[in-house]
Amino acid sequence: MRTLKALILGDIVGQPGCRALFVGLPDLAHRLAADLVIANGENAADGFGLTPDIAERMKASGVHVITSGNHVWQKREIFTLLQTSDTLLRPENYPVISGAGAIPGKGHCIVTVRDTPVLVINLEGRVNLSPLRDPMQVGRALVKQFRSKVKAVIVDFHAESVDEKEALALFLDGEVSAVVGTHTHVQTADERIMPGGTAYITDIGMTGPVDSVIGMSKETAISRSLTQMPLKMEVQNSPAEIQGVLLEIDTTTGKAVSIERVRQLSTV
Ligand SMILES: [Fe+2]
Ligand SMILES: [Fe+2]
Repeated sequence: MRTLKALILGDIVGQPGCRALFVGLPDLAHRLAADLVIANGENAADGFGLTPDIAERMKASGVHVITSGNHVWQKREIFTLLQTSDTLLRPENYPVISGAGAIPGKGHCIVTVRDTPVLVINLEGRVNLSPLRDPMQVGRALVKQFRSKVKAVIVDFHAESVDEKEALALFLDGEVSAVVGTHTHVQTADERIMPGGTAYITDIGMTGPVDSVIGMSKETAISRSLTQMPLKMEVQNSPAEIQGVLLEIDTTTGKAVSIERVRQLSTV
């Protein structure tokens, strides 16, 4: 059986997350024999958004495809790169607007890994987020569009709700290699291969400061809860962990062979 391995990393949060990634990824990817690295960059720039400079450094450290989510719009300087880059994604299911008001970027790309094309799809959930286009139908339509070209399909489903994530994964079971959740920044322990051969995990976690509230300052998060005031969140400056999953895909069938959680504490 011919397989490929994809290392998929959760939301990179601020400078601690970037440091952990830039320093730790080359060795980690080598040790895990990852052929493809996908990382979610929506929180990389001070916790909110992404800049071209950080995207470039992510690529230089070994990330092949950058996915994102609801926070990707918060640094406008990324808009041009979203529009021009083939491998920087925003969720596909934002409104389709033509002309001057068009939303920059796209939510899918095909990368070729050891002669095998892999379709990467980025979708966003609608529960406790914006009322976007239906991620289930948008995801299925993309798979159908590229079915004749690709067997291996990886979906980053950036969503809040566990049931929305499980429902989408079961909806696409057998049609894609994996559905991995992002956005909550907390790694779940429910990784499994569904009956149709699609690997699934509700959330792959974050690459960011561990001793924090989803990567943000403990003190501010506690004050926000106590006071109910919308105090500005800042990234917690403390050691970070790289979190994600290692996925193995049968390249002939596109089915998942295995999915394993990955956690590596950074020493910087
Ligand atoms: Fe995030
Ligand atoms: Fe998010």
